[in-house]
Amino acid sequence: MAPIPKTMFGVVIPRPGGPEVLEYRTDLPVPSLGEGHILVRNEYIGVNYIDTYFRTGLYKPRSPSSDSNHPSTSSHDTSSPYPLITGKEASGVISASSHPSFPVGARVVYLADATYAQFTLLTSPQIQATLLPACGRISPETACAAHLQGLTALTFIREAAGIRQQLGISEGPWTLVHAAAGGTGSMLVQILVIMGAKIIATAGGKQKCERAKRLGAQWVVDSTLPQEEVIRQVKEITSGRGVDVVFDGVGKATFETVDLEIVARKGMVIVFGNASGPVGPVDLFRLMPKNIKIMRPSMPGYITTPEEKERFTSELFDFLVKGKIRANIHKVYPLKDVAQAHMDLESRKTTGKLLLKVE
Ligand SMILES: NC(=O)c1ccc[n+]([C@@H]2O[C@H](COP(=O)([O-])OP(=O)(O)OC[C@H]3O[C@@H](n4cnc5c(N)ncnc54)[C@H](OP(=O)(O)O)[C@@H]3O)[C@@H](O)[C@H]2O)c1
Repeated sequence: MAPIPKTMFGVVIPRPGGPEVLEYRTDLPVPSLGEGHILVRNEYIGVNYIDTYFRTGLYKPRSPSSDSNHPSTSSHDTSSPYPLITGKEASGVISASSHPSFPVGARVVYLADATYAQFTLLTSPQIQATLLPACGRISPETACAAHLQGLTALTFIREAAGIRQQLGISEGPWTLVHAAAGGTGSMLVQILVIMGAKIIATAGGKQKCERAKRLGAQWVVDSTLPQEEVIRQVKEITSGRGVDVVFDGVGKATFETVDLEIVARKGMVIVFGNASGPVGPVDLFRLMPKNIKIMRPSMPGYITTPEEKERFTSELFDFLVKGKIRANIHKVYPLKDVAQAHMDLESRKTTGKLLLKVE
């Protein structure tokens, strides 16, 4: 194993802002190992929409004292979470370990804070990390590409929506997935296919709609059409009934005006993101006429114990190894080009997963 340096490279957010605030640095302190921790030398880092929320300040970072990966060593401002290293997932090789189940030299894929860096410290590896050999023949690139978004799709289908495998029964629930050609949307569609659901996908434009169809959605609706037309098409497809579950990572632009219209009586709207902005306060009376359920889940809230991690990662990686789902990689960017990756993701140009490569 190469010796661990005292400083590392990584990407820092000095203050909230646009992609231009992302600052590539080569002088960041390498986090130090404590009891039960592991230090990972990252190879691939996943880019997720949540990274943009931490960059813009929509989501507030925790204070430095609660985060051992925090790069600040300054003594004059201990209350500010900035400068911040963002990023929520990566794959790489364990460089140092004080955890008996995670030996130095082993490859892992993991969820943690501060992954836009050469090294990341994992303080609860049993909940955060999965040893890659345990996942079969999956490369570190594929594992990273499928991990966070795949776990999000799987836990939301199983836990939030309560959808179980239909095992050959053709009468699965009616579902609708917004932004179905995106990273999380692609995973939702593919896993819903396995569950035997009837899937209507919405996506922005002809090419993205074709992609959603190839992923297995039986019906597609172009979300660039006026919303009345989107609603009309969904009602036509479902013979006026509406869908049992809406999976919505778009948020503000679709929740009130589309989701509450297309959801069936006793149906459920699962809003899980803010790609178009956060959903505002909800008038609960809007739920009354159709007895609608709404949920606002977060994937980490379903993976809080080693058992939960084991259950969902093994199911996800089993789907991958058996070829039932694929990680569709849009592009692999060098870590230095992270600003371009954020710009591409926010401009709705991308399909599938964006990765950063650490060289
Ligand atoms: N709650 C959780 O635990 C959790 C976990 C993972 C992801 N998420 C959420 O899932 C959503 C998707 O994340 P992702 O990383 O997989 O991204 P993504 O879906 O690959 O990219 C975002 C997509 O959202 C659609 N979109 C609609 N309106 C948009 C707007 N105004 N600006 C930008 N994009 C818009 C675009 O697809 P079209 O062109 O097809 O409309 C765009 O390609 C995000 O809201 C994210 O926060 C939540």
